[in-house]
Amino acid sequence: MSLHIEDRHEAEGRTPSAAASWRIALEEVSVTYPGGTKALNNVSLEIAPGEMVSIVGLSGSGKSTLIRTINGLVPVTSGTVTVGPHEISALRGKQLREARGHIGMIFQAFNLAERASVYRNVLVGRFAHSPSYRTLLGLPSALDREVTLRALDSVGILDKVWNKAGALSGGQKQRVAIARALSQIPSVMLADEPVASLDPPTAHSVMADLRDINAQRGLTVLINIHLMDLARQYTTRMIGLRAGEVVYDGPAAAASDADFEEIYGRPIQPRDRLGFAE
Ligand SMILES: Nc1ncnc2c1ncn2[C@@H]1O[C@H](COP(=O)(O)OP(=O)(O)O)[C@@H](O)[C@H]1O
Ligand SMILES: [Mg+2]
Repeated sequence: MSLHIEDRHEAEGRTPSAAASWRIALEEVSVTYPGGTKALNNVSLEIAPGEMVSIVGLSGSGKSTLIRTINGLVPVTSGTVTVGPHEISALRGKQLREARGHIGMIFQAFNLAERASVYRNVLVGRFAHSPSYRTLLGLPSALDREVTLRALDSVGILDKVWNKAGALSGGQKQRVAIARALSQIPSVMLADEPVASLDPPTAHSVMADLRDINAQRGLTVLINIHLMDLARQYTTRMIGLRAGEVVYDGPAAAASDADFEEIYGRPIQPRDRLGFAE
């Protein structure tokens, strides 16, 4: 039986809110879906521990597929994906779930249990590693409770801990989702269009939360985003995808409108910018 997380932290002398930050590497990764769509074509990338990276591209360019190969939700057709010490693309079943326990993930639709409390939603992140009999019985340890409350505090919604998740605003829900990912004490944080359902001021504050998590914890953060201004403002490196291929990789702040037009394969449109109401 593997060590409980309490023992591991004690053994390694870590504080419960810190974990090693991991590198992400894709080598010649291609993904073809069962229907025949080639979503990624020979993508090679290396992201160093602690980088703050945006993946930009039009809808259908392969952003979600890319992020899902990193946590093993989408199997690669060829190539290898390595995250920290794990060759994700070679893992299955229990080993894949264990590795995924170290990879936080945030979604556009928040994916919360709406009828459960904020506390329960975030506590679930504690069960991501290796469920013990305590977690299976729903009996959190003192450490589980502490990490849960700290995670909520770090995204500024500790006061909502006993609210029902379904009763929160969109921005609050996304913060609960971030707290849930943080309670895993992840080594990598992935976010798939985390602000696409939010109004502009809330989108800015959620992006700022992600930037703070990167800066304060040194956590590797990878964000799929289709809004160019947010990518420029909140990430340091930008990777552009077009039809499943990397067509841009460079500093985000320096990316020009012409660079975006190259990535998109068309002129900039109003809906590429934050605050455009469809
Ligand atoms: N589960 C799936 N089955 C079949 N085709 C898919 C699936 N998911 C995505 N695709 C296709 O793969 C391509 C890339 O999609 P996706 O990775 O979702 O791009 P993005 O996130 O940039 O919008 C698209 O053509 C899309 O229709
Ligand atoms: Mg997508």
